[in-house]
Amino acid sequence: MTKVTDSLAYDCHCHILPGIDDGAADLAESLDLCRWFVAHGITEVVCTSHSTRRYPNTAETVEAAAAALQAELDKRGIALHLIPSLEYRFVPQTWPPKRLLPWKGNHILVELSLKNPEKMAPLDPEEEIRRLVREGYQPVLAHPERYLWSTPGDYDRWLAAGALFQRNLGSLEGFYGSPAQERARYLQQKGLYSFLGSDLHNRHYAEFFDTILDLEPDILPRKQVVAAIIRKGDRIFATQRGYGEWKDWWEFPGGKIEAGETPEAALVREIREELSAEISIDRLLHTVEWDYPTFHLTMNCYLCALKSEALHLNEHEAARWLDKTAIHSVKWLPADEQLLPLIIESLAN
Ligand SMILES: [Fe+2]
Repeated sequence: MTKVTDSLAYDCHCHILPGIDDGAADLAESLDLCRWFVAHGITEVVCTSHSTRRYPNTAETVEAAAAALQAELDKRGIALHLIPSLEYRFVPQTWPPKRLLPWKGNHILVELSLKNPEKMAPLDPEEEIRRLVREGYQPVLAHPERYLWSTPGDYDRWLAAGALFQRNLGSLEGFYGSPAQERARYLQQKGLYSFLGSDLHNRHYAEFFDTILDLEPDILPRKQVVAAIIRKGDRIFATQRGYGEWKDWWEFPGGKIEAGETPEAALVREIREELSAEISIDRLLHTVEWDYPTFHLTMNCYLCALKSEALHLNEHEAARWLDKTAIHSVKWLPADEQLLPLIIESLAN
């Protein structure tokens, strides 16, 4: 299948539960939309029915609707896994709800008033985002490109408050009109999207998406990072991640390249921040290109050495020096794992 759908390893935003919002009208349409996902290689979707004044769905109504639709899918052998959740609108009539229903751990999809920000008063989106973060949730802001009343400063404030942005499939092709298309381009170019969602409501959406499947070659948001393969004799230094979705997996230390930084300068800074250590960079070993479900990673990996022995784990929960016989003894992040054959080869020399 095409890259558009490949990138939707799972869909985090759709309205396919029948009859409970402005999405699928009935079971027949729900089943058609589910078959559309399966036909495009998507096996898991988060059912984010609206929670608004007009469609005051709750955790309970969505859980019941998702369980009923899942039973219909199972009966027909349609291999799609449904995760019940909601698209919470920041309006005082329904927000905050009595019980939040997060997806994939702690993610909460939120939306703002599309046309009239006054409808949210007295709620302030930035404050609500901050509150969710304080309570341990990861707010994901649905389709920021569609809030035509918002300013670039608003985007910055919501991101700074802790929101991640979700782009709608079709935004870049004008499905939501050209002003939203321009905003989608702006946000995409700045690399501010973390999620792609279909926001699939009905058969017309699916028909449109089928016309754009080949138009989005770079659909995944891109992250460019650097990593240090620190060598000491016949061993390399591995660190265990202590936070987030990939907590406990092993990786090479490093991180994001900041605006205006060279990859080498970024690496020296990252190692200083993560390990309180100074390194010398020997050479670029390899650049890994890897598609994670929600972003494309470009990782420049450098062979390095410590300038002095002392180091301190400021961000990681554990670290080990591994020789080539032990290198497979830890659970590597998928992108980092790509490097192992090259590292083993370099350790042999
Ligand atoms: Fe939606």
